[in-house]
Amino acid sequence: MGSATLLLALFFLSVLTTVPKVQAAFTCNSTTRSTTCSALIDYVSPNTTTLSAIQTLFDVKNLRTLLGANSLPTSTSPNQSVAAKDKIVIPFRCRCSNGTGISNHRPVYTVQKDDGLYHIAAEVFAGLVTYQEIQAVNNISDANLIEVGQELWIPLPCSCDEVNGSKVVHYGHVVEAGSSVELIAEEYGTTQETLLRLNGITDPKNLQAGAVLDVPLKACTSMVANNNSLDYPLLVANGTYVYTANSCVMCKCDSANNWTLQCEPSQLKLSNRTCPSMQCEGSSLYIGNSTSAGCNRTTCAYAGYTSQMILTTLVEGNACSASNDAQKIGLQVWSWAFLFISSIALAWSSIFSVRSL
Ligand SMILES: *[C@@H]1O[C@H](CO)[C@@H](O)[C@H](O)[C@H]1NC(C)=O
Ligand SMILES: *[C@@H]1O[C@H](CO)[C@@H](O)[C@H](O)[C@H]1NC(C)=O
Ligand SMILES: *[C@@H]1O[C@H](CO)[C@@H](O)[C@H](O)[C@H]1NC(C)=O
Ligand SMILES: *[C@@H]1O[C@H](CO)[C@@H](O)[C@H](O)[C@H]1NC(C)=O
Ligand SMILES: *[C@@H]1O[C@H](CO)[C@@H](O)[C@H](O)[C@H]1NC(C)=O
Ligand SMILES: *[C@@H]1O[C@H](CO)[C@@H](O)[C@H](O)[C@H]1NC(C)=O
Ligand SMILES: *[C@@H]1O[C@H](CO)[C@@H](O)[C@H](O)[C@H]1NC(C)=O
Ligand SMILES: *[C@@H]1O[C@H](CO)[C@@H](O)[C@H](O)[C@H]1NC(C)=O
Ligand SMILES: *[C@@H]1O[C@H](CO)[C@@H](O)[C@H](O)[C@H]1NC(C)=O
Ligand SMILES: *[C@@H]1O[C@H](CO)[C@@H](O)[C@H](O)[C@H]1NC(C)=O
Ligand SMILES: *[C@@H]1O[C@H](CO)[C@@H](O)[C@H](O)[C@H]1NC(C)=O
Ligand SMILES: *[C@@H]1O[C@H](CO)[C@@H](O)[C@H](O)[C@H]1NC(C)=O
Repeated sequence: MGSATLLLALFFLSVLTTVPKVQAAFTCNSTTRSTTCSALIDYVSPNTTTLSAIQTLFDVKNLRTLLGANSLPTSTSPNQSVAAKDKIVIPFRCRCSNGTGISNHRPVYTVQKDDGLYHIAAEVFAGLVTYQEIQAVNNISDANLIEVGQELWIPLPCSCDEVNGSKVVHYGHVVEAGSSVELIAEEYGTTQETLLRLNGITDPKNLQAGAVLDVPLKACTSMVANNNSLDYPLLVANGTYVYTANSCVMCKCDSANNWTLQCEPSQLKLSNRTCPSMQCEGSSLYIGNSTSAGCNRTTCAYAGYTSQMILTTLVEGNACSASNDAQKIGLQVWSWAFLFISSIALAWSSIFSVRSL
């Protein structure tokens, strides 16, 4: 009996001391520009699960946010099965503090019967954090003392820093066996030098499978330029889409328009609420519409949102040289699409008390 307990204790100790990989924290120096930003991280599910279970585990508010980060169609069912070892990209808010970035007080995990901190870190969250990191942010003095029902903040690594002078979306990429810095750089449109510098790697041969690598993804140029906008800075990674302005607006980012963010009214049937006007002031255009006169093209672009309204701006571009819109912004008319119907305004502001991702 006594020796069995001792053996178990020794086993537990050896597991605790050998398994956690020492993961370099992501550098995050930006503190002035904005307090939080959007970020992505890979989750390689240890078991067969569903999208909805992953959404719950990571506290992702809307399924469509999860779908957008994975470029999955919006019609995908929450019951869609995810096979063990499949990779799902998790979108979350990042906060920088003291030179490093961690997820902004989410996800919150509720301790289950027979859970240990190590199990939660290494298995439930697939090694994206160490148990020491969970222990530290939750002020737990003894790692062996956690209670069923206790709520733990899981600090996922992330960053909001610009890379090489450009706004990017930082993506915590879980390195696959057989991969290399070179292959990862090529797959995600960056350079080996950038990856090595960002991750403080001196010898690319030291890259280990399962490590979480900070990969900067190209983000689209957006017209959300005002830090009063609740989604500022609107960073949408190449190949993904997001819903913003409380799901009233859908924006997607790809190479088709030279990485200029393409936004339009979302057309979602939003129960119980009405979206504010999305018409550009002094024109008949709505967000996403454009008109051309000769080579002059005018586009009504999404420019952010506040608790009361959706902001729009007219952007002039050149219809003759394709995909040059972002460069030739001749006219920027900020239009404030005010709400006139107070009942809608009320419903709207009640929705806006919660910031969406
Ligand atoms: C972040 O700040 C640290 C310390 O101030 C500095 O060593 C590092 O180069 C900075 N990184 C970036 C990307 O600015
Ligand atoms: C998902 O599964 C649950 C029960 O398994 C079912 O009640 C629900 O209708 C399903 N939802 C969809 C969208 O298929
Ligand atoms: C900030 O980081 C340094 C080392 O990187 C650490 O010594 C210090 O305790 C940290 N401060 C806070 C408030 O976390
Ligand atoms: C995966 O499944 C096994 C066996 O059913 C279970 O013991 C384990 O806790 C599961 N892991 C997670 C992360 O749910
Ligand atoms: C942990 O303690 C620090 C300082 O004592 C406090 O600022 C912080 O809010 C605490 N964190 C949690 C999750 O309770
Ligand atoms: C953008 O994404 C596409 C696929 O979605 C990829 O082929 C391309 O290399 C990416 N470009 C950059 C610069 O990230
Ligand atoms: C930084 O940007 C410049 C110009 O855009 C480019 O030539 C250079 O290769 C980039 N450097 C890295 C490390 O990505
Ligand atoms: C918002 O932007 C204005 C001007 O661009 C700047 O003065 C102000 O400090 C910014 N506020 C925050 C919270 O970043
Ligand atoms: C509509 O919104 C009100 C208040 O925000 C809420 O009490 C009510 O349950 C909602 N109705 C539906 C069908 O969602
Ligand atoms: C303007 O955009 C709306 C919504 O995306 C669309 O339904 C409508 O057809 C567009 N109008 C024109 C003139 O392009
Ligand atoms: C295009 O814009 C330029 C200057 O903004 C103007 O001089 C020209 O007349 C416009 N052309 C057409 C066809 O509207
Ligand atoms: C695409 O945008 C970049 C900068 O955002 C610009 O340098 C380049 O000329 C643009 N390319 C085209 C074909 O418009």
